[in-house]
Amino acid sequence: MACEEILKAVFPLLEGRDLATCMSVCKQWREIAQDDYFWKCLCAKRWPSICKQSSPATLTYHKLFKTFYRRQQSRTFLPPCLSFSDLEFYIDIWTEEKLIFSEVVPGPVLQKGKWAPPTGICDVLRFHLESPDYKMTLPMQPRFNIPLGETVSVSVLVGRKDSKKVACLINKSVFDYIDRSAYRALAFDYLDFSPAHPFVSGIRAWISLLFMDHSHEGVFDVFGIELDFCDAANSEDQVLWLLDMLDWK
Ligand SMILES: *[C@@H]1O[C@H](CO)[C@@H](O)[C@H](O)[C@H]1NC(C)=O
Repeated sequence: MACEEILKAVFPLLEGRDLATCMSVCKQWREIAQDDYFWKCLCAKRWPSICKQSSPATLTYHKLFKTFYRRQQSRTFLPPCLSFSDLEFYIDIWTEEKLIFSEVVPGPVLQKGKWAPPTGICDVLRFHLESPDYKMTLPMQPRFNIPLGETVSVSVLVGRKDSKKVACLINKSVFDYIDRSAYRALAFDYLDFSPAHPFVSGIRAWISLLFMDHSHEGVFDVFGIELDFCDAANSEDQVLWLLDMLDWK
């Protein structure tokens, strides 16, 4: 009994995180700390106006505090309804008006981790390719050379086998940014989302040409390309969710 009174005197003095820790000490502590009055006091410090209501705005103040005190760290995604084996990428690259690369690339070939880049590439590029960020890569076989100063453009469409529809990822964008420390040239385009997602915008598809580090003297030796959606999607599931939201026609 004495112990219970001490706890009831001490709990109102605690910060929310400590009160939450107390709840995992034992059954008695949990039952006492569950008293919504303590949580109402904590909520009143953080959001005084919501405590002016006669009844809590949610089920309990404890729930309110637990939910909004901290930003949710990681959201769990439901499994995406698309899979890489449903997808096909149509990639075309031109220098000026000459088509230099044109292939149908099955989804599983682009999927992360299916290809190890060659030896002899610069460290900055290797660290980039090995970083955990989600990126899809494709080797260029045979490799091709691009003369410095030529305009190189790219189109990427993606098809899905489940519904036989196609969406546009990149509509003739130019590789106009060259990252000389990482030996890659970048192009992007904004994704077009389905009208079912009217408030989503500003998310880009990025594509890079990857160069060997002896690329100089006016010629880039391209050994691969990379496709990513680093503005928004950083795992395979996130990429598949994002693709599923496109304006499929
Ligand atoms: C692609 O770009 C062309 C020219 O800029 C434009 O006319 C066309 O509407 C674009 N297509 C799509 C699907 O965005």
